[in-house]
Amino acid sequence: MNNLLKDSEKITSLYAKHINPGLAKLISFAGFGVEQRGEGCYVYDQDGKKYLDLLGSYGVFALGHRHPKVTEAVKNQLDILPLSTKVFFNQTQAELAQKLSELTNHLLTYTFFSNSGAEAVEAALKFAKIGTKRNKLISTKGGYHGKTLGSLSVTGREKFRTPFEPLLSGIEFAPFGDIAALEKIIDSNTAAVIIEVVQGEGGIHVAPEGYFKSLRELCTKFGTYLIIDEVQTGVGRTGTFFGYEQEGITPDIITLAKALGGGVMPIGATMGTKEVWEKVFAENPLVHTSTFGGNPLACRAALATIEVIEKENLLDAVVQKGSKFIKGLNQIQEQFPRILKEVRGRGLMCGVEFSVPDSAELTIVQLLKRGVLAAYTLNNPFVIRIEPPFTIEESDIDFALNAIHDSVEEVQSLLQSIGVI
Ligand SMILES: Cc1ncc(COP(=O)(O)O)c(C=O)c1O
Repeated sequence: MNNLLKDSEKITSLYAKHINPGLAKLISFAGFGVEQRGEGCYVYDQDGKKYLDLLGSYGVFALGHRHPKVTEAVKNQLDILPLSTKVFFNQTQAELAQKLSELTNHLLTYTFFSNSGAEAVEAALKFAKIGTKRNKLISTKGGYHGKTLGSLSVTGREKFRTPFEPLLSGIEFAPFGDIAALEKIIDSNTAAVIIEVVQGEGGIHVAPEGYFKSLRELCTKFGTYLIIDEVQTGVGRTGTFFGYEQEGITPDIITLAKALGGGVMPIGATMGTKEVWEKVFAENPLVHTSTFGGNPLACRAALATIEVIEKENLLDAVVQKGSKFIKGLNQIQEQFPRILKEVRGRGLMCGVEFSVPDSAELTIVQLLKRGVLAAYTLNNPFVIRIEPPFTIEESDIDFALNAIHDSVEEVQSLLQSIGVI
């Protein structure tokens, strides 16, 4: 079996036969092989070729691959109690909940633990419904919150939604960053507004200054919960531990996942204020549960992750490295304005918007050839997202920017040669 699994063609065919034929075609077409090993900012394929990971599994690898402090914490926990009985108190879960509360200055005091971003969103939506005893939810066009039935219902892309309709009822969408549009649809039946602080899969959009303050005021006025989905922005990605901190607001509920497990364990978390929790769990403490949520391995990984971020001053690194990326990307955009429209971002969550159909995909293939991993945003194929580990070296940023420059140059000349531009 080991020999079989070493053979990349066989692995591709096992994907086609037993996992997802279309996906197998897509991965092969883009030129990806079989991942073998990850270390720091690099991933190695079956041939030992190394790739600089600018994608970071859509934001998971904030500390890179296999950060030694996180793997050590998880290995130690593995020898004591990997999963929870669910009937005893668990020390690791309690410590993590306390630490997360501390990171919100004890404003969002409580945490419900799960295993993924979509699960964290499901919990947030349920908490809003039971907490307000209302049904209506508002989300944003292009917003991405997951693909389970509930989280898909607030995900703003038709392509993913249509095959599963009817989804949850009572959901309306406003354009991201447009407070006037939101004002028109929010009312006293609105349970919650769910929104990302920087719209990730929609194409890395930063809202205009003051938008979140106005949104907070509107939600307070109508007794509506403000849910900030921090699945991608949380755990330092934008330069503060939570993205909402930079907006000068306090949400009622936030969701976390992706980077919280330090790139070693999957974990999801839904945090809320005391007021929210009193309403959600008042009548039934088991109203929402998860077998694996809050398991000791995942919580230990999260605690180690937070410790690394704090001890290594990684939030400062995110700000400084993010501005280096943005500056370099802007210079590239100025050189290739015929296919590059705009560069956007905050911290190490950067996006490059292309103006010509398929040019982002072509650039991703070129980047792969040059040993750089990247992907476009799920709800907007015109935007390549750049979300490297916070630990990326300056020399790797230079390498990445050169690779992006050369890839864009090659794509532009191809598009010129076939008369597309
Ligand atoms: C903001 C946001 N919310 C929710 C999710 C869903 O997370 P998961 O894929 O872990 O279910 C994502 C995933 O990209 C996300 O970016």
